[in-house]
Amino acid sequence: MKVLLDEKQLADGVRRMAADMSAHYGDEPVTIIGALHGCIVLLADLIRQLKMPLRVGLARANSYRGATRSPGAVTIDLDMLPDIRGRHVLLLDDIFDTGHTMVELLNQIGDLGPSSVRSAVLLRKQGRQQVDIRPDFFAFDIPDAFVVGYGLDFNNLYRNLPYIAVLEPHETAEVSSA
Ligand code: IMP
Ligand code: MG
Repeated sequence: MKVLLDEKQLADGVRRMAADMSAHYGDEPVTIIGALHGCIVLLADLIRQLKMPLRVGLARANSYRGATRSPGAVTIDLDMLPDIRGRHVLLLDDIFDTGHTMVELLNQIGDLGPSSVRSAVLLRKQGRQQVDIRPDFFAFDIPDAFVVGYGLDFNNLYRNLPYIAVLEPHETAEVSSA
């Protein structure tokens, strides 16, 4: 495992992203919707940097199911969502990889009558996107490697690392070939 972004870099990146969001929304009320489980650490750090009236909601997005490379069909669970009709919604995910998860979230949330929907991620993975949209807010572009930590997992492990690290191929080998 090799550290890609340390704690200070992450804190700076989150602060920059919060400043971009504050410049965009001003004092408008915002409902931030985090995509579980990858958003948990980012969401906790980011919302403490935001000063506008803020509601927090959660959605569940599943695409990976253990494998590191090949995304399955995206399933979205909106059971925990607050009422977002007429509200400015900001979707938050850990990483923008192929982009299918964000597109699916944008579509399903968009159907619920928000007055606007924007998207934010901590990381954009280079050279992987398969969709036309890009997140409105992001903190870092990273190389095409499988990363863990700061909420991101491999088989639901490593979310608690305070930094972002690249897993070496041998560290993911058994599962991705299974
Ligand atoms: P997408 O739909 O391909 O953009 O994938 C987005 C989801 O895949 C993210 O919400 C993550 O849960 C997961 N994912 C993609 N790349 C990585 C990675 O490098 N490490 C951990 N999870 C990842
Ligand atoms: Mg995720």
